[in-house]
Amino acid sequence: MPKDKLARFAAIKTFENVLEHRYLADFPLKGHWHRDFFKNDHPLVLELGCGKGEYSVGLAQLYPQKNFLGLDIKGNRMFIGARQALQQNLNNVGFLRTRIDFVADLFAENEVDEIWLTFSDPQPQKPKKRLSSSLFIQRYRSFLKPGGTVHMKTDNDLLFDFTMEEIATHGYSIVDYRPDLYASLSTETDPLKLTIFSIKTHYEALFHVKGHVIKYVSFTIH
Ligand SMILES: C[S@@+](CC[C@H](N)C(=O)[O-])C[C@H]1O[C@@H](n2cnc3c(N)ncnc32)[C@H](O)[C@@H]1O
Repeated sequence: MPKDKLARFAAIKTFENVLEHRYLADFPLKGHWHRDFFKNDHPLVLELGCGKGEYSVGLAQLYPQKNFLGLDIKGNRMFIGARQALQQNLNNVGFLRTRIDFVADLFAENEVDEIWLTFSDPQPQKPKKRLSSSLFIQRYRSFLKPGGTVHMKTDNDLLFDFTMEEIATHGYSIVDYRPDLYASLSTETDPLKLTIFSIKTHYEALFHVKGHVIKYVSFTIH
């Protein structure tokens, strides 16, 4: 393993804003995130497959009255966002190194208010593993509050079309639909939305340079 990756793994073990889920026992924070981790009762927002955590950190800066948690299996990526949060004294953002497949073991009923899926892997060969598949939505339903929004930002046509089909098939309610997000911003008048959409993730920047169209949809699942 490269030296800097090893150094990052060692470093995040000392970060108070990074946790690891080891899959062996009941996760102790399930049902207790507010009391035992964030130490307040503010709404909880998840970023699944957060990578370097640009949305978790960016939204935490924008919304001090909400809590944010980025989940990913890659500790060396979340190191970037976790370090940034510590340097900026952002105590409303944390990171959890885990496989998202176990997400239903991590949160109790009604514990989560919103979910962001940022440039999720499109899983071309394995539709069930897509983070907007009915398998995953069923998991989210076990902890997302009724009316809680799922946001998806992606460049990938396969994943976006699949998600739109899932929304139609299962009767989820669309909140906001932007098949060309950047084009839609030229007529957007809500300054908060402009700020939220101006947050760019690492993969988003890479795909944008390649000329990919960035798409966005948000929906509720209950
Ligand atoms: C294409 S990257 C996007 C990262 C980041 N959101 C961005 O936009 O730059 C997808 C991320 O999802 C994570 N990921 C994919 N499947 C996962 C799973 N089942 N459990 C945990 N992390 C997963 C990967 O490790 C990777 O960091």
